[in-house]
Amino acid sequence: MTTPPTPILRLTDIHRSYNVGTDVETEVLHGISLALQPAEFVALKGPSGSGKSTLLNIIGLLERPTSGLLEIAGQPTQSLDDAGLTKLRGATIGFVFQFHHLLPAFTALENVLLPSIIAHGTATAAAEANARELLARVGLKGAEYKRPGELSGGMQQRVAIARALSLRPRLILADEPTGNLDTVSADEVFGLLREFNRDHGSACLIVTHDPRLAAGCDRLVELVDGRVVSD
Ligand SMILES: Nc1ncnc2c1ncn2[C@@H]1O[C@H](COP(=O)(O)OP(=O)(O)OP(=O)(O)O)[C@@H](O)[C@H]1O
Ligand SMILES: [Mg+2]
Repeated sequence: MTTPPTPILRLTDIHRSYNVGTDVETEVLHGISLALQPAEFVALKGPSGSGKSTLLNIIGLLERPTSGLLEIAGQPTQSLDDAGLTKLRGATIGFVFQFHHLLPAFTALENVLLPSIIAHGTATAAAEANARELLARVGLKGAEYKRPGELSGGMQQRVAIARALSLRPRLILADEPTGNLDTVSADEVFGLLREFNRDHGSACLIVTHDPRLAAGCDRLVELVDGRVVSD
């Protein structure tokens, strides 16, 4: 008998309120339960304001839930302090945002090296070789020394993807990674995530409004008013 694999992500009855204890307290997530298996490629959709970004920020350990259990790769997170969360995030999660959040003063190569520097305090030769290879893989060979301002929107987002993948995360979270791009760039960026998922078995959870891209995922989770309405 084989035991089922540990989910890379498990949410149990997650609630999130803003402005707790004030007279404008509002609950925006009303008990989300969800599990993702390793290598799953999942789209998250829902109307504006339904709580998608809030949910992604909680899963990405950038915000804490008000209540409920969040386990990443089998590890419960509620008792971790900020340093523990940062460590787990660095070791497990790659985040791609709608706007790339690259550091404008740094080159593409330096931006991709940042997670290694944050995790290990320095960029080793191996980390640099890996960053160069990732940039080549996202089609940016030759752009290593360009700053974000010298690159197109699609190219900037590809640098952001290379950065998110630089520590080979087992879980990739992408919040409308193509929302800002033309169709051709959007397809390229989506294709890169699919490729990384296939080659490294990284699970992906992608917020998208684009039904075409959602159709390219293996599973579709739909959020309405802070609740999962279909999966
Ligand atoms: N920091 C905050 N303080 C108070 N309310 C917030 C905060 N962040 C989000 N909200 C509220 O939580 C709800 C969910 O917002 P969220 O950004 O998660 O939605 P979304 O599904 O990502 O929307 P969109 O598709 O527009 O990105 C909204 O009603 C929003 O106004
Ligand atoms: Mg959002």
